[in-house]
Amino acid sequence: MKSSMEISYRLRKTACLVISVNNSAGLVYYLFWRIEENGIISYPLILHIMKQLWNRIVNELMEQNHNEKIVEFKNVSLEYDYQGDRIHALDGIDLTVRRGEFVAVAGPSGCGKTTLLKLIAGLILPTNGSVEILGEPVHGPTKLVGMAFQNPTLLPWRKTLDNVLLPLEIVQPIKSQYYKNRKPYVEKARRLLETVHLNGFDDKQPWQLSGGMQQRVSLCRALIHEPDILLLDEPFGALDAFTREELWLVLQDLWMQQECTVILVTHDLREAIFLANTVYIMSNRPGKLVSQSKVAIPRPRTLEDCFTQEFTDLFHEIRHQIGIVRGEIIEEN
Ligand SMILES: Nc1ncnc2c1ncn2[C@@H]1O[C@H](COP(=O)(O)OP(=O)(O)OP(=O)(O)O)[C@@H](O)[C@H]1O
Ligand SMILES: [Mg+2]
Repeated sequence: MKSSMEISYRLRKTACLVISVNNSAGLVYYLFWRIEENGIISYPLILHIMKQLWNRIVNELMEQNHNEKIVEFKNVSLEYDYQGDRIHALDGIDLTVRRGEFVAVAGPSGCGKTTLLKLIAGLILPTNGSVEILGEPVHGPTKLVGMAFQNPTLLPWRKTLDNVLLPLEIVQPIKSQYYKNRKPYVEKARRLLETVHLNGFDDKQPWQLSGGMQQRVSLCRALIHEPDILLLDEPFGALDAFTREELWLVLQDLWMQQECTVILVTHDLREAIFLANTVYIMSNRPGKLVSQSKVAIPRPRTLEDCFTQEFTDLFHEIRHQIGIVRGEIIEEN
């Protein structure tokens, strides 16, 4: 049994070490205070404090990486021209996404969420305003993004591995390197498949995989060329609730490992809160961003986090915002 002096000494040593790499001073002083006040502190309390300290460090380090603006919308509007009719899809969008951020966008059907992603991918250009990636205006399709859709859209005649490798046959300058030496890319594709728990499925055809498995392959395909930005358009919308939750964890792992920026469009508010650092809500068409909520739940998040008070409070707060947007709730002044 260790003496309280010994525990106190060890904690002080650890705290000093932590202070030297991170300025979470408030929490460390709290730790000292508990030791001074109580003399002896219990192991569960030590673990609790150390866990909080660790979460704070991880969050602060992630914040530091979030400084660079990777996507910027400046007063963006978009009108589609359909058989002579003008369809006003987006209006006055101002949005900044920082490197490494995980952003979720939710809103009613037809409000312009997919349009927003297409603008980032450079598949369409704004009618007014500008969309910039890393400070440069987007003029056309960009290789800085990878995209996955609601349906996996795998090529049925290609095996799993070859579907993952597909972007490398298209995206320059990787295309030429890939044809010179395929080996490192094949290894990378295998590692990605392993991350999404699909090892051993390399040579299966898409029809031999379940819907959830196909969606995992499509996530790997979107990430194989190491895009700076991953765009996800309701990627889990067609899946059952259990598979969807399983894939939330897979996506969180991928995001934490690949350190890319993710913009996720979803109809599922729980999914948005579970996965994102920032949740945006859009109004009915023409879509505007009407609310922004920060999610401070520490990473890695677990499915149990969905039942915490913090999660539920945030869910109700955002649900309330959606109610206001839909005119179900009259806002109080
Ligand atoms: N190519 C197009 N030509 C004309 N109108 C379009 C085109 N694409 C989308 N629209 C219209 O623009 C509006 C926004 O479409 P968008 O697909 O961005 O909505 P969304 O929010 O993604 O909807 P959902 O949640 O149903 O996927 C809709 O009214 C849609 O009919
Ligand atoms: Mg859509």
